[in-house]
Amino acid sequence: MQPQKRYFIHTFGCQMNVNDTNRMGEALAGMSYAPTPTADNADLIILNTCSIREKAEDKMLSALGRYRQVKLQRGALIGVGGCVAQQEKKKILEKVPYVDFVFGPDAIGKLPDIVSRIETEKVRVVETAWVDSENYVFPQADPKTSVGRTTEFVTVMKGCDNVCSFCVVPHTRGREVSRPFTDVLQEVARLTTVGVREVTLVGQNVNSYRGGISFAQLLLRTAQVPNVERVRFTTSHPHDLSDELIEAFRVEPKIMPHFHLPVQSGSNEVLVKMKRDYTVAAYMERLNKLRAARPGIAVTTDIIVGFPGETDEDFEKTYQLCADVRFDGQFAFVYSPRPKTVAGLKEVEWGPVPHEVKVKRLERLNALQRQCSLEVMAPLVGQTVEVLVEGHSRTREDRRFGRTPHNRVVNFDGDAPIGSLVEVQVEAASQSALSGRQLKTLSLPNVVIPEVAPVAESCVVG
Ligand code: SAH
Ligand code: SF4
Ligand code: F3S
Repeated sequence: MQPQKRYFIHTFGCQMNVNDTNRMGEALAGMSYAPTPTADNADLIILNTCSIREKAEDKMLSALGRYRQVKLQRGALIGVGGCVAQQEKKKILEKVPYVDFVFGPDAIGKLPDIVSRIETEKVRVVETAWVDSENYVFPQADPKTSVGRTTEFVTVMKGCDNVCSFCVVPHTRGREVSRPFTDVLQEVARLTTVGVREVTLVGQNVNSYRGGISFAQLLLRTAQVPNVERVRFTTSHPHDLSDELIEAFRVEPKIMPHFHLPVQSGSNEVLVKMKRDYTVAAYMERLNKLRAARPGIAVTTDIIVGFPGETDEDFEKTYQLCADVRFDGQFAFVYSPRPKTVAGLKEVEWGPVPHEVKVKRLERLNALQRQCSLEVMAPLVGQTVEVLVEGHSRTREDRRFGRTPHNRVVNFDGDAPIGSLVEVQVEAASQSALSGRQLKTLSLPNVVIPEVAPVAESCVVG
């Protein structure tokens, strides 16, 4: 019998890519490839790439450099998928001669074909055609992929119809397509058969979901699937955050009290140039309504500093907004010009912000965020929090790790099986995590979840 071949997928970027990686693994399993946790003994290496910022692309190139050795030593095939592949296929093929294939996010289903063509015909293959919206069929997740996990992402849409002037996503993922709600609910139900108790519905702009029912209804229906305890989602655009969605937070306790609502800037002038379609006042109105509907809800955000033309005054407005809102968490990024985007093309006209200025602004904002996060976390010491156990703590094997309903990370002493809902007494807090010890177990998963090692290297938000 032929020895089984092994694949390794290095994932960059967002939850969409994490999900796509899982679907790639399923496509390869169909041609008897098995996953391996390290690239060194792989016969096939795939980089699932992100191009949201220049840094993400640089990371991809340096990873490719590392994997070249595996190619030289074992003749491994190397493929590049994801968002950089979609946008930069020519550049990759020209610049990196040892890449065997390049494929876009719409070509995941064709992976077995691509690999067997390379194996038999010894050619380089490119597959980056878009599938028209009406013909697009979302790949169904195989619940076997989720064995070992109690929390899982479920794709509800792909692409993005917004035109934020800084963003590459509409160019790499194409037009918005929503997945029919019946398919989403069936997938959620299937995931519960392997012990998944928490699902995060993912899409680049879930608020504009149109898969037969509204997004709020989709959340409510997901919460009703037997054995689902927690429902989350990401990401939302503030301009179509509906009253109906806010109402869902008021009525359904299984929708977890955490909302990621990217504001990007606290200056209306900058928001106009970003083409975000809301004002600071409108953002605050939505946020306050949400906080009234679900008191204590954790709110996190994304911010870009140093957008072209951003003045000191504009930045102070962003700083003030963060000081007023006191976000639970924030991903702040230095603006990075991206190919084909309006801001990328107009950067010189609008006035590029010098790198040192961008970095200084970022540091100030991050310092403020550390303060805000600590203000939220410190008072939790001495309190009891509910935690869904996800596995071993990343820092210490003998400890467990999970999250609270507000999405706060907790490392704790305890022995509850993966998938248990437990109470944890908080003994210490940092700005990013809580630490404590397990008290009582509130409930167990409906099936025993084995402790399996993760197979794909993953770095969320490249
Ligand atoms: N669909 C999501 C955003 C996904 S991209 C939304 O609209 O909220 C994640 C974050 O990356 C964005 O919120 C933005 O803050 C940041 N980002 C996107 N393009 C960027 C760029 N060109 N430079 C710096 N940060 C960027
Ligand atoms: Fe990019 Fe804007 Fe779409 Fe988000 S909503 S993916 S920032 S274009
Ligand atoms: Fe995601 Fe990065 Fe593409 S954030 S959609 S993988 S550009």
